[in-house]
Amino acid sequence: MQLNLVGINYQAAPVAILEKAAVRAGKLEEALSLLGSYVAHGIILSTCNRTEVYTAGDSIRQAEEASLDFLKAHLDISDADLHWYAYRFRGEAVAEHLFRVAGGLDSMVVGEFEVLGQVKKALDIAEKAKKVNLPLRHIFQSAIRAGRRVREQTGISKKPLSVSSVAVDLAARVVGKLGGCKLLVIGAGEAGRLVAKAAKERGVKQIVVASRTPERASALTIMLGGQPIGMDNLAEELATCNIVVTCADAPHRLLDTRRVGAVMRNRSEPMVIIDIAVPRNVAPAVAEIDNVVLYNIDDLTQIADQNRQQREEEIEQAEAIISAEMARFVIWWRTLEVRPVISALMGKAEKIRRSQLNRTLKKLPPLTDEEKYCLEMMTRSITCQILQDPVKYLKTNLKGNEDYAEIINRLFHLETEKEK
Ligand SMILES: NC(=O)c1ccc[n+]([C@@H]2O[C@H](COP(=O)([O-])OP(=O)(O)OC[C@H]3O[C@@H](n4cnc5c(N)ncnc54)[C@H](OP(=O)(O)O)[C@@H]3O)[C@@H](O)[C@H]2O)c1
Repeated sequence: MQLNLVGINYQAAPVAILEKAAVRAGKLEEALSLLGSYVAHGIILSTCNRTEVYTAGDSIRQAEEASLDFLKAHLDISDADLHWYAYRFRGEAVAEHLFRVAGGLDSMVVGEFEVLGQVKKALDIAEKAKKVNLPLRHIFQSAIRAGRRVREQTGISKKPLSVSSVAVDLAARVVGKLGGCKLLVIGAGEAGRLVAKAAKERGVKQIVVASRTPERASALTIMLGGQPIGMDNLAEELATCNIVVTCADAPHRLLDTRRVGAVMRNRSEPMVIIDIAVPRNVAPAVAEIDNVVLYNIDDLTQIADQNRQQREEEIEQAEAIISAEMARFVIWWRTLEVRPVISALMGKAEKIRRSQLNRTLKKLPPLTDEEKYCLEMMTRSITCQILQDPVKYLKTNLKGNEDYAEIINRLFHLETEKEK
């Protein structure tokens, strides 16, 4: 069994590539179904920081090529870009990478909480699509446990940060005091909620939330305060706001030069737009409009790097948790191949022991329960002691020496079954 990962993330690629690789939340089932025509078992993890395809199959090359073929077929990305920006991990390195992702150590905003939920969601959706086998399930569940431990046992979440809160911090750097600003949030999902929450905590008094589904904006503003609007009323609010944060999961640009240009012609105050959506909600050319300052997710790196420096100690503690979880995973992983052989070997020994014991009991005069118990224990102890050393040897030496499994199978005429 081989573990494999092919991915594109914010460290390797700019937002222009990342947005082409993004699988939007509503499209994940469709993407998994397409992945199924390349490889039997796989999980797609797509967040604003990364799109990754995890597979577990019998051949590394096959799985890696299948993931690359899927990415080429599904995503709007050229062969050259894919080979330039995509990274690949194999075997235990796949687990280590996912543990760090779930722990928030691989995120632009180190320690962010949201990614743990996204890892869990990726597993749940793949489970529903019946694309998960034993190794993939185990690696994702272990990563979720590692992520939870990092959040619970280190100070990394003491002052929770997210891409959304960092976006509000960036706005504060540009405009100075936030108290007198009017903020327009476009998108009322999880990212929008976090933007509104961070803005409120940082003193923004006027918050307007725009959503395609008005009820969603209303629900958010009932919870956090602010004014809900539909997308039809964007122009009016754009005319009077100082800061816009866009975070709608839309496949197309929501703000372009025509729309923003029309608003800016009639106002003299600057407008700061921070686009944290991937794919981006704002056309890059909007940056050229006078008085508009446009940032996208790539521009958050500087603040995110400072955040990383301030969290050195927590990062070190988190790395120690990841190492401990990795050690646990490695034991499981290295005995995965050998488990069917060991269980077949022990099953055969147990079958022989039981039939020989029954035969003997029939030949003996009737025994008391205690005498029968002693015989049972003695025969069990004999089989266990005989198998103890070979089993230990198999567990420590089989990985990378799959021939041993075949030799044991032939030697003992075993019928092994692959674990599902
Ligand atoms: N979650 C995070 O922590 C996070 C962090 C940084 C960046 N982001 C980025 O922010 C975006 C949203 O993520 P999310 O986690 O908030 O997703 P989410 O919870 O699924 O919410 C998606 C939001 O986008 C809106 N939307 C979907 N399609 C739209 C369209 N065609 N036109 C206008 N609005 C549309 C939805 O409106 P309806 O209610 O009408 O469907 C909803 O308000 C993504 O691009 C993501 O990469 C998310």
